[in-house]
Amino acid sequence: MCGIVGYTGNENAAPILLAGLTKLEYRGYDSAGIAVRDLSRDDVAVVKSPGRLLNLIQKTDNGASVPGTCGVGHTRWATHGEPTETNAHPHSSADDDVVGVHNGIIENYQELKEKLLRHGYVFHSETDTEVAVNLVDYYYKKYKIGPIDAIAKAMVRIRGSYALALMFRDLPGEIWVARKDSPMVIGVTENSAFVASDVPAILSYTRQVYYIDNLEMARLTPGHVSFFNLDGDEVFKDLTEITWDAEAAEKGGFEHFMLKEIHEQPRAVRDTLGSYIREGAVDLSATGLTEELLRSLERIYIIGCGSAYHVGVSAKYVLEDMADIPVEVDLASEFRYRDPKIVKNSLVVVISQSGETADTLAALRLAKERGVPVLGIVNVVGSTIARECDYCMYTYAGPEIAVATTKAYSAQLINVYALAIELGRVRGVITEDRCGELISELNALPDKMAKVLENKERIQWFAAKYANARDIFFIGRGVDHAISLEGSLKMKEISYIHSEAYAAGELKHGTISLIEDGTLVIGVLTQNELLEKTVSNMVECKARGAYLMGLTSYGNYNIEDTANFTIYVPKAERHFIGSLAIIPLQLLGYYTGVAKGVDVDKPRNLAKSVTVE
Ligand code: F6R
Repeated sequence: MCGIVGYTGNENAAPILLAGLTKLEYRGYDSAGIAVRDLSRDDVAVVKSPGRLLNLIQKTDNGASVPGTCGVGHTRWATHGEPTETNAHPHSSADDDVVGVHNGIIENYQELKEKLLRHGYVFHSETDTEVAVNLVDYYYKKYKIGPIDAIAKAMVRIRGSYALALMFRDLPGEIWVARKDSPMVIGVTENSAFVASDVPAILSYTRQVYYIDNLEMARLTPGHVSFFNLDGDEVFKDLTEITWDAEAAEKGGFEHFMLKEIHEQPRAVRDTLGSYIREGAVDLSATGLTEELLRSLERIYIIGCGSAYHVGVSAKYVLEDMADIPVEVDLASEFRYRDPKIVKNSLVVVISQSGETADTLAALRLAKERGVPVLGIVNVVGSTIARECDYCMYTYAGPEIAVATTKAYSAQLINVYALAIELGRVRGVITEDRCGELISELNALPDKMAKVLENKERIQWFAAKYANARDIFFIGRGVDHAISLEGSLKMKEISYIHSEAYAAGELKHGTISLIEDGTLVIGVLTQNELLEKTVSNMVECKARGAYLMGLTSYGNYNIEDTANFTIYVPKAERHFIGSLAIIPLQLLGYYTGVAKGVDVDKPRNLAKSVTVE
């Protein structure tokens, strides 16, 4: 996601900030900016530029035109508001007394903004960051308290995730930082101090770092860093020496971006939930969808390509069941050429991580030509699909670098669940009490996902054992069928092993002829009411020599009577359990690819954004 760099010391800050931001480019961004001050001046120079970092480097003559020894820099990956110069960071408080950069998502920024507007604050951007900076300024001035107490008060009011780096006009040479659920590392040398969202940004200056914990603050001055908790008490920390090389550091210590992104899923899901669940209820106001529109719907068409299409298949099961509405799912490349018969009072939902996929975009345009409202479920803010759809429900996965999608897929599922609950509620299919239960189930998902990730060594072992497989079949019914489709795609795209997914009941209508001695068949068995039926289909395969892997939830231990190897995920509400079941399958694909020596982040023949049909 966004990248933060801060420096205070004896050198000119701007070139150091720009060099640090360059090292964070891998995180993805669409604008950049720096704020630098000289100890002799009390104003701060802020320079920002949309687009590539190179624009900012040229605009500042590689930093030479912005003198000063203390500063903060930022690469922004748009979440609130388009990637424009105005929305780029750093942001300043209304009278420029506080300047700051932020990484993360402030869920209650609208409410905080309204409070600040009532107190005469003026806003220039659409960002949640400008709200955070002004909130700190508000407490700083209102109570005439020091930065620690002002920041702590703001932290108590802010809901969501943040890494904040701030400079105060009356505190030259000091950078103040605060953190909750967004990464931040602090480095120190004899004469300088650094802050960054990731180690590579500061690795060429120091390997001595501190890790700031959640809900902590820090004060950076040249050569010195002190830490504080929310009560304002000083906290003492040990320095850690970074031993990784620069390339490993970019991946946060993970071997590949794909593995890093698989591990980022609990965070991606938490951020996405935070944007659509407020005070225990689904809140789709940010998308523009109204209750009237949702209530009037008679049919939903869901369109996407690849994994996004697989989210659509899950969505069909979930939406039809929870909101009692007919749903059709289409591959975008088929929908656009098949003269679809769209009934009146419909909603077309297009799903796309990149927001640029040519076929999905064409399907969106076709729907709009026919006068049908289009909801986009999109990860990249300001992308073409995000701009052209009538309603936009962003996912907050952050930029995906690995070609094979993982965290964006998981965030898309969350949007679908939130939509299903809200549709079910406004259509009177589910009661308010049931909505409350379902929302608690959703909120429990990130921790359960983290638990699934703890089990990865078993999957790694199994992947190594099956890395030479010729064919792998994934089977399941209902939501488990949708998960099988995605598990199979992950397997084939990054391990190059032929794999197919089948609705479990369909296997015996032809495909079972491919099962021979040792063929791996993976049964996805999370839907308890369908479990026995899929187990029967697995037994049919076993009778023909298949080796069986079962994927089910804890408690279903009798699967081991049939399967040769079983993976368990925590129990969860049956419509949402796909969010847990997909993780072992992503890991299985990943570890199989690694065992085969495939370049898993960039598998052959594939592109991250498919802008041709
Ligand atoms: C598979 C994968 C692709 C994409 C598909 C759609 O791992 O990443 O199947 O899901 O190309 O891309 P978006 O979501 O950008 O429209």
